[in-house]
Amino acid sequence: MPARFLVIGGGGREHALVRRLALDPSRPLVFAAPGNPGTEFLAESVPLDVNDAPAVAAWAVEHGIDCVIVGPEDPLIAGLADVIRAAGVPVFGPGADGARLEGDKNHAKNVMAAAGVPTARHETFDALAPALVALDRWSTPPVVKACGAAQGKGVAVCTSRDEAEWFLRACFEDERFGAAGLQVLLEERLVGPELSVLAITDGEAYVLLAPSRDHKRVGEGDQGPNTGGMGAFASGCLVDSGLARTVCTDVIEPVLAELRRRGTPYRGVLYAGLMLTAEGPKVLEFNCRFGDPETQVVLPLIKDGFPELILATSQGELGTFLAGLSPAPAGAPTPWPGAALSSWDQAAVVVVGASEGYPGDYPKGRVITLPADDVNAWIVHAGTRSQDGAVVTAGGRVLGAVGMGQDFEAARTRAYGLLDGVAFEGMHFRRDIGAGFKEGTTA
Ligand code: AMP
Ligand code: GLY
Repeated sequence: MPARFLVIGGGGREHALVRRLALDPSRPLVFAAPGNPGTEFLAESVPLDVNDAPAVAAWAVEHGIDCVIVGPEDPLIAGLADVIRAAGVPVFGPGADGARLEGDKNHAKNVMAAAGVPTARHETFDALAPALVALDRWSTPPVVKACGAAQGKGVAVCTSRDEAEWFLRACFEDERFGAAGLQVLLEERLVGPELSVLAITDGEAYVLLAPSRDHKRVGEGDQGPNTGGMGAFASGCLVDSGLARTVCTDVIEPVLAELRRRGTPYRGVLYAGLMLTAEGPKVLEFNCRFGDPETQVVLPLIKDGFPELILATSQGELGTFLAGLSPAPAGAPTPWPGAALSSWDQAAVVVVGASEGYPGDYPKGRVITLPADDVNAWIVHAGTRSQDGAVVTAGGRVLGAVGMGQDFEAARTRAYGLLDGVAFEGMHFRRDIGAGFKEGTTA
């Protein structure tokens, strides 16, 4: 009998997950809650309220679901995985305790300190006055971060002391992020290219998916405010063996060991957001889920076996799955656990088409013209909905055009070529996703 998956969420990451599962040769049965117009052709949409954990768990039991994959961070942080697991259904995604790595940046710093993981120097504050006093001690403006989950908007990479003060006041006085902003980090600003490393783990064994790079700023040349991510690419060329070793031995393994030491079970993705500084890689953040839009480019590089990988992880059987895996293919960096899962001679690029005004306020309901997908280029829906027989905009990041190819340039050309066929009023996108990246280098 084919495996039955329930994917929680309705954004671009979830469309990519549903697509990768549904198109696998093992033909699993996929349900999406709530899903989006892009998942409708691949999965059955289920109108579940993800905030009603007992209802989600009951539905999964009743429908014989083999594994629930929780896409977004908020339900993970709220403990959805714990409730579903307690009902006897395996879940891909950590419980509330594990998800604190993303939901509480001060906790993440404590875990990193205990594990000896390289990260930016920081100070933590629970009130405005001492934070302002400390700010005067910083010779260069720090990065200010709300400790709680703030939909990706709780970080200000400040260029002046005034900007840092303004953001601190927004957190403590205006309570712009509610309780999530009532504890704040002042953090040393790091410089360098970023790298997203997605480790899949059952708390004991782990595998790494293909390395990728997100483009967080809204404007070309990395100008303007941070967004959820305006595009990304995945290519084996992002990592050489030296960097691979540091990622494994200095970042992923010590954190997993520290989680075990604390008795925190962890089944799902441990996503390390790294900055490759002159002093070596340092962790900017940990996320407890697949990256968005990184997932849109990392999953297409995975060869067969994705449903089995997810199932084994959710059942705590990743070690057994790994034992059956082929040795690392030529071209993969070493060490890179699970290297045989990914293609190392292909690249993927996604370019996000965003609504007018995003990341600020934006209109909704604009009709979208969509091009036809082909095997090397396809649209991933993110903020879209169906209305009167049309697909219309319903979010800030509306969709992503994904291109795949034998090399980075081929993938990039296909992604932009497909995006040419997308139209909706006010659409904007970055024309420089991956610009400056040279294949054969790790910069
Ligand atoms: P975070 O949510 O902590 O990953 O921060 C979001 C984005 O802000 C990161 O992807 C970086 O682009 C930027 N950022 C975060 N921390 C720092 C830092 N210490 N130095 C420079 N940029 C940072
Ligand atoms: N792409 C950044 C994130 O998923 O948090």
